[in-house]
Amino acid sequence: MLKYSKIRKDLDIENMNGNAEDLAFFTHYLQNHTNGVSKSFKKRAVEYYNQQNTNLSIASEPELQAMLPIKWDIPFPSPQKPEFTFIDLFAGIGGFRIPMQEIGGKCVFSSEFNYHAQRAYELNFGEVPFGDITKLDLNAVPKHNVLCAGFPCQPFSISGKMKGFEDTRGTLIYHIFKIIEKREPDVVLLENVKHLLYHDKKRTLTTIIQHLEELGYKVSKKVLNASDFGLPQNRERIIIVGHKNKKFDFSKLKTKSKPVLKSFLDKENDFEFLNEPYTILEEMKTQDSGLIFAGYRNKTIRKAGVRPNTEHLSRVHKQPNRIYSTDGVHPALPSQESSGRFWIYHENEVRKLTIQECYKIMGFPRKFKLINNKSELYRQVGNSVAVPMIKEVASQIKEQLITSIKIKDAEYIS
Ligand SMILES: C[S@@+](CC[C@H](N)C(=O)[O-])C[C@H]1O[C@@H](n2cnc3c(N)ncnc32)[C@H](O)[C@@H]1O
Repeated sequence: MLKYSKIRKDLDIENMNGNAEDLAFFTHYLQNHTNGVSKSFKKRAVEYYNQQNTNLSIASEPELQAMLPIKWDIPFPSPQKPEFTFIDLFAGIGGFRIPMQEIGGKCVFSSEFNYHAQRAYELNFGEVPFGDITKLDLNAVPKHNVLCAGFPCQPFSISGKMKGFEDTRGTLIYHIFKIIEKREPDVVLLENVKHLLYHDKKRTLTTIIQHLEELGYKVSKKVLNASDFGLPQNRERIIIVGHKNKKFDFSKLKTKSKPVLKSFLDKENDFEFLNEPYTILEEMKTQDSGLIFAGYRNKTIRKAGVRPNTEHLSRVHKQPNRIYSTDGVHPALPSQESSGRFWIYHENEVRKLTIQECYKIMGFPRKFKLINNKSELYRQVGNSVAVPMIKEVASQIKEQLITSIKIKDAEYIS
């Protein structure tokens, strides 16, 4: 059996060399060669392979078919006996794909247009995601049971001139609706920042739910916190679930008591300590969220633009100045390292989380491979989802909404 790592090396898949779209067809074909979905990708995959063929050591076989089956020597191979199919839109680094695969889902399509995220995704799942969702040929998106999308919160206002989801034309959510309309997945699972609840005087969320209903779905939503699913991070996100016949019941989710940050930390690493004056409070303040405010950096107090009599607060209000105790949870990881990874007070010292610790408090398994680009690693993890939280939602989706689905080859066919 040919190893994926060999194909990857021979075709220089890792670097993509401007061939991301060809490689998306090629890797999607390899991932699906045993099921009917492969026909969506085969033509372009074969064309690409034949162009490359002449210079390759795997070229001794004239037919792409001769490479199959493949030994998937990657961290997260697809399940051997899938119980349902899903697609991974705005896929990032695969925070949905890990838990969906763990509960028996087979990914039949992924889309993500950021080069670094595509690289991280391919490194872990052996598949290059398709690029810009606004330019997708919908025929390449196969039929599937569950549509997953942690879409970016993009402001949109409703023109009110058109009917149904055409109102959202020109926005990213519009392209999700187009896929739902064409492929009619059994379940739609969407994730976004908590602020979506209030965006544009609540009109954005109302419109999304209304359009899902117009497309034939019964919709439920809830704000969930990663700290209720075994992670020491105060990360609130809205989860929206739509199903053709039944409303998803969020009350069945199994939650856990909040863990403390210190039990997730590395004993040894190249830590970044705070080497300037700071103050640790004698009485630390525990917040309802589980955050424990431990102190602050002694930076010059910012006065400009601060309301009279609140100058003393401005030091602590600037988040990068705050220090949190590791007896509590960590604030939500931001997507920009520069906008402030937070300071933590641990074993009488003040330091920041290492990149490995960041991936740990998002629930990424140890075997998840990191690309070699530090600022991108922070961006990717801050953009991603709390893996155990999605796993609990996905398990309940499977239990409540897709128990009766059995995969036969025919059901893969678009
Ligand atoms: C909030 S992040 C989702 C991260 C993902 N859930 C994960 O687990 O890593 C949104 C992602 O959408 C991607 N994106 C934004 N616009 C896109 C587009 N037009 N087509 C494809 N991907 C897009 C971004 O690059 C980003 O990685």
